[in-house]
Amino acid sequence: MVVSAANAAVNVNGQLFDREHAVISVFDHGFLYGEGVYETLRTYNGRPFLFDRHMHRLRTSARMIALPIPLTDAEFSTRCADTQRAAGLTGGEDREAYIRILVTRGIGALSYDPAVTPHPSVVVIVKPHVQLPESVYRSGVSAAIVSIVRNHPETVNPRIKSNNLLNCALAAQEAVRRDAFEGIMRNHRGELAECSTSNLFIVKNGQVLTPPLEAGLLPGLTRGLLFEIGAARGISVREATLLDADLFGADEAFLTSTTREIVPIVRVDDRPIASGAPGPVALALLEAFREQVHSGPRAANQL
Ligand code: PDD
Repeated sequence: MVVSAANAAVNVNGQLFDREHAVISVFDHGFLYGEGVYETLRTYNGRPFLFDRHMHRLRTSARMIALPIPLTDAEFSTRCADTQRAAGLTGGEDREAYIRILVTRGIGALSYDPAVTPHPSVVVIVKPHVQLPESVYRSGVSAAIVSIVRNHPETVNPRIKSNNLLNCALAAQEAVRRDAFEGIMRNHRGELAECSTSNLFIVKNGQVLTPPLEAGLLPGLTRGLLFEIGAARGISVREATLLDADLFGADEAFLTSTTREIVPIVRVDDRPIASGAPGPVALALLEAFREQVHSGPRAANQL
């Protein structure tokens, strides 16, 4: 099947569909119970960025919910490539792909017993990557510290990149109601954790700080890359427990994610962060990040 160029294409358990015909059973436990894990990737020059790391995180998430992953990394890679081709999103201007890989518990009787669902479902959604306008990076965004608390790690651990996204969805809803670009969540101890779809960083006295994994958050791959970019460029990037006051007293703040890269946060709860303009460290890290992603196939995958 060929879907018209620059459209969405979906691979459901090995079969390609267009947006309208991609369906999954209501008896899939992904739908019934939110039981599943996922990854969001994007391409640069048509190649899924940090593919190996996404596969590794997918398998870690799956292990944490005792979900078998039925494909090898090579099979996932082929499925992504086939689906990208079907969508006409193989790289170049306006041809970069957003790729969402989902693995759910599969179809079975209405029971929590994993034995009733012997075959996990595997879905690959490919649609055009939507690039934030450059003006957003130049002007920065506003964020809100929301009242929704990030899941306690002993409930649904935020390290699991789970399809069960209600915690993040509720945080994002509150941010939307408050006209904020992102919602920042605290953890059960009242420390800052992460945003509804991204990780949080501040800069203080030249040090780049981000809440520790132990605070209960997703180990973002963009976050992880910033430790490496910082080390290579002589910028100190490290974990630190952060409270509201650290954010409001920061010299800079920014968020990171696969689809947004590094976005300066210039206001929080209607209070400016420092001068209320993007800071030099965030912009330097964004530039270094972009240099790295565009520096060839090695950077695009293995690192
Ligand atoms: N979101 N924290 C949460 C809760 C996230 O959902 C994400 C990613 C991140 C950043 O992780 P990474 O740098 O690996 O993208 C942090 C993706 C983009 C999503 O949900 O689509």
